[in-house]
Amino acid sequence: MSSPIEVLIFGAGAVGAFYGSRLAQAPNVHVSCVCRSNYSAVSSNGFHVTSPQYGDYSWTPTRVFPNPKEAEKSNVRWDYIVVSTKALPDVSDDSKQLEGLVKDKTAIVLIQNGLGVEEGYAKRFPSAAILSAVTVISAAQEQHGEIKHNRWTRINIGPYLPSGPSSQAEQQNAKFAELLQQGGVKDAEAYTHAKLQLVRWHKLAINASMNPSSVLSNGSTNAAMALDPELSHHLHATMLEILTTAPKIIGQDFPREFASADKLLASTRKNTSGSRPSMWLDWEAGKKMELEVILGNPIRIAREKGFEMPRLQTLYALLKMAQTNRDKQADGKAKAKL
Ligand SMILES: NC(=O)c1ccc[n+]([C@@H]2O[C@H](COP(=O)([O-])OP(=O)(O)OC[C@H]3O[C@@H](n4cnc5c(N)ncnc54)[C@H](OP(=O)(O)O)[C@@H]3O)[C@@H](O)[C@H]2O)c1
Repeated sequence: MSSPIEVLIFGAGAVGAFYGSRLAQAPNVHVSCVCRSNYSAVSSNGFHVTSPQYGDYSWTPTRVFPNPKEAEKSNVRWDYIVVSTKALPDVSDDSKQLEGLVKDKTAIVLIQNGLGVEEGYAKRFPSAAILSAVTVISAAQEQHGEIKHNRWTRINIGPYLPSGPSSQAEQQNAKFAELLQQGGVKDAEAYTHAKLQLVRWHKLAINASMNPSSVLSNGSTNAAMALDPELSHHLHATMLEILTTAPKIIGQDFPREFASADKLLASTRKNTSGSRPSMWLDWEAGKKMELEVILGNPIRIAREKGFEMPRLQTLYALLKMAQTNRDKQADGKAKAKL
């Protein structure tokens, strides 16, 4: 048998552990994890996944590391490093964490929401293939090592090639999609650079409208916002702003099969699960929100090309200040206790 394909998951939370557990089912694939707060639980007991699609199962990663330095010391040559941390460039440059781990032919796969997540990795590792992935999934790590997959497994992956084609990146991209399919993720699909960037913008139409609006309306569910006449009007206009600006930036129209703003809202109205966007969950937990990749970067990318997105800009300005004020108040309270 040929030597195994070595995959390292960096950021083994809901998304990373779920896809790691699927990749581990593909033949001759070893999947290891760099954990953080869940290190002790995962190194003792592995992960337990519950899923309406795949049932309940346990998954023991090939190796579990408490940090990237320990992963480096293992001297494994990683074929794929999957980054599935929350994308928080205003908090940390996670690409730095991969120094020493990326070798010849290591491909870096980013499974993260938002826009511009690839740039830091492409700059730091100019000769590595950067594979950009967008997933439509609902999953959560309810306790350390306990992954609850609620629904959906759509994942599109495209090589990040802003300066032109690379057959190596394209091959690694196709292979990664194949590994996911072999792991039972039938909705995994390999896309081109341009199509994947359109998928990023399209997903942004949902995330950049729903997420901030839920926080600014004090925790509304997706369905409640889509059913409220004024909020629904605001969501529709925000989605349209994104869906009409993106093709001008990328130079390609959205493929016909991509849902319109009307369709996105109609399906949200039918979603009676009571789900709220992740940004609200982060806000409520006092955590940093993915504001820069979901709001700040799209505005800046559009502006560089001469386009303004005033609805998005308003949401960004308000939420950024709300987050700053919340964190200042929390700091003040913590200092008062000392
Ligand atoms: N969950 C979903 O349903 C869903 C759906 C679509 C897209 N996404 C996107 O997928 C990405 C990941 O989201 P998620 O929900 O999986 O987040 P998550 O459950 O919070 O997982 C992120 C993981 O990364 C770990 N991490 C962060 N920095 C690290 C570091 N320096 N070293 C080691 N581990 C580190 C976190 O550890 P700690 O626990 O110690 O912080 C956590 O385990 C985000 O961009 C999100 O927007 C999520």
